[in-house]
Amino acid sequence: MTLQSLTIRRPDDWHVHLRDDEMLTTVAPCTARQFGRAIIMPNLVPPITTVEAAASYRDRIVAAAGPGFTPLMTCYLTDSIDPDELERGHAEGVWVAAKLYPAGATTNSASGVTDIRNIYPALERMQRIGMVFCVHGEVTDPDVDMFDREAVFIDRILTPLVRDFPALRIVLEHITTRQAAEFVASAPANLAATVTPQHLMLNRNALFQGGLRPHAYCLPVVKREEHRLAVRRAAVGGSPKFFLGTDSAPHARGAKESACGCAGIFNAPYALEAYAQVFDEEEALDRFESFASLNGPAFYGLPVNEGSVTLERAVSPVPDQIGDLVPFGAGSSFGWRFSG
Ligand code: NCD
Ligand code: ZN
Repeated sequence: MTLQSLTIRRPDDWHVHLRDDEMLTTVAPCTARQFGRAIIMPNLVPPITTVEAAASYRDRIVAAAGPGFTPLMTCYLTDSIDPDELERGHAEGVWVAAKLYPAGATTNSASGVTDIRNIYPALERMQRIGMVFCVHGEVTDPDVDMFDREAVFIDRILTPLVRDFPALRIVLEHITTRQAAEFVASAPANLAATVTPQHLMLNRNALFQGGLRPHAYCLPVVKREEHRLAVRRAAVGGSPKFFLGTDSAPHARGAKESACGCAGIFNAPYALEAYAQVFDEEEALDRFESFASLNGPAFYGLPVNEGSVTLERAVSPVPDQIGDLVPFGAGSSFGWRFSG
């Protein structure tokens, strides 16, 4: 019998960019409509590096998202981050996690970390106080091919890091490769990963389908089919180490469709529809709730959400544009519909 409707605990998004100001008012309701909580990425300009900046950003998100949504804030790690500031923000309940952007790796990462050794004191402290470490796992060396940057990061940075901080809870964000899926699966329980809809649905051909496709461009960039399949197997396989993180990263249409287009895919409006389609295709709908609603809270040490959401098997057309933004799947449709 084919399942026609799917009800799961209200899910969370463990990696999202909500931006600020006008963009925030457009995108926050999209995330709040489907998710109970979200890990909010701190790569604003200027980045969120102080407890005060995070607390006031949190207030702006709550105002834009409306009732029933809880933003979980993160600290943007810099070379000069003060471990005491991290501990204070964590103790005051402002920061749930801190995020590593290797300097130059992605959008608004100019103030990021230039050498992992520079944040070893911060990581010592985070390990001690139980603060989660979220990682953009790509090296930035110009000598390393774009498509190899995640795998090389795992070899050069993450492998020694996991050894040096055996009790630090680490999330390797938005994994894109077989190497990442395998490394996370075989590591101890304190290393987990988030997976985006685009890395489950697209391979790198999507970047060039009939012409250059800026709306398929994000970082880490989508990889070969072999990698997409490995990431898919990991996500649907039932391991508690893999959970939902959209990496929804809106940029105005003109900033994407440009001679130097921004990296980021705005997938928040139809995120659950996209993930449900993948789990359905993999005949793994029975594991969708763990991935979307249970594994993340268990890893972060938070309770699961009260309440539930329902998806129905129905054609869900995606509009060409939402305001000034082009959503993931624009002009096509998903096979599931979010019904609240
Ligand atoms: C993100 C953004 O635009 O902030 N872009 C992206 O392609 N994912 C940054 C990031 O998460 O790398
Ligand atoms: Zn991101």
